[in-house]
Amino acid sequence: MDAAKGWPDGLQPNIARSSLAHLQPFQAELADLPLEMIKKQLGKEDVVKLSFNENPYGPSPRAIRAMEAELSSMHLYQDAAGEDLKTAIASRLEVHREGIILTNGADELILLVTLAFLDPGDEVIIPSPTFGQYAASSIAMGAKPVKVALQDFRIDIHNILAAVTDRTKMVFACNPNNPTGTILSKGELEYLIGNLPEDILLVVDEAYIDYVTEPDYTSAIDYLDQRGNLLIIRTFSKLHALAAARVGFGIGPLPVIELLQRVRPPFNVNRVGQAGALASWQDTCYQKKMQALNTANREYLCDILTRIQMPYVPSQANFVLVDTNQEATRVYKKLEAEGIIVRNANIFGLPRHLRITVGRKEDLTRLGQVLAEGC
Ligand SMILES: Cc1ncc(COP(=O)(O)O)c(C=O)c1O
Repeated sequence: MDAAKGWPDGLQPNIARSSLAHLQPFQAELADLPLEMIKKQLGKEDVVKLSFNENPYGPSPRAIRAMEAELSSMHLYQDAAGEDLKTAIASRLEVHREGIILTNGADELILLVTLAFLDPGDEVIIPSPTFGQYAASSIAMGAKPVKVALQDFRIDIHNILAAVTDRTKMVFACNPNNPTGTILSKGELEYLIGNLPEDILLVVDEAYIDYVTEPDYTSAIDYLDQRGNLLIIRTFSKLHALAAARVGFGIGPLPVIELLQRVRPPFNVNRVGQAGALASWQDTCYQKKMQALNTANREYLCDILTRIQMPYVPSQANFVLVDTNQEATRVYKKLEAEGIIVRNANIFGLPRHLRITVGRKEDLTRLGQVLAEGC
């Protein structure tokens, strides 16, 4: 890498999109590696990974069977449009099938929406700290991320509205927010949707919606009739435990989805992923069971944290942001030494915090024992 100019060594001058000088490739730390590789690196079998907000119980058995059944057809291209999956999603969510786009995980949708809507110099409002891909994808398009601070770890709609300028093209709202687990109330979302100028695209990322138990919450889907410039992001990586199948989807008014379809690679969601997602979507028993387990385990984790007097941000997701009352790296290292991998929140600009995925009860018991010993 030519650090001075921000380009890889040896790259021909002026050949690349100039905005990419400001980006780095994804660099996996230990906490970003798959469990098998973490085990190898630590030389330990008994490792718990609580850094990725994965569902620890694995996919629905119906999804596994459906995915296995596709393996012998992998030489044949799948349905590029994913009509069966879109039909099933549309029917349950009561939206138009043409108002849905399937993507290679929610990550791809974040990239596609910035590609389709942003020109160089456009401003993108991003309540921060939050999921890093909103800023990375915006920067890739030459747009300018305008980070607005959370208040008490919550998205502040007034801060968002105050940051709007003539150049604002897009607003991202992660609801529930990663890494804080906090939500916008129904009233706050409604206010934002009603007061954000209509010529700005509001992107509401609902990756963690299935874990919300607070009644004063609603999906932005409820406002599709009211706002033309709206996109809702969902994923099969969390509740449905299909992170490696790479299936996400977007819901929006037809013109927004039609534009996104123009930049979607035709075969972006693979055959196995489509089959697994469809079977999982139809397995509502499995979904209810996973929701109940997460709620119980989240409470269990919070009880442990209360008992050891470690403050945390009340969460509506499958992770909890914990204040270690010290430089979190010390606690992170201690947990790592015991084979427990969590997310050091210093990457979110929160050097005292750890983000801990709601794992299985036995994993959380083990985590609690190590945390209780102190550093
Ligand atoms: C808020 C949020 N949005 C999107 C994603 C990406 O999900 P996917 O696995 O569908 O790409 C994540 C992943 O952790 C996330 O936390």
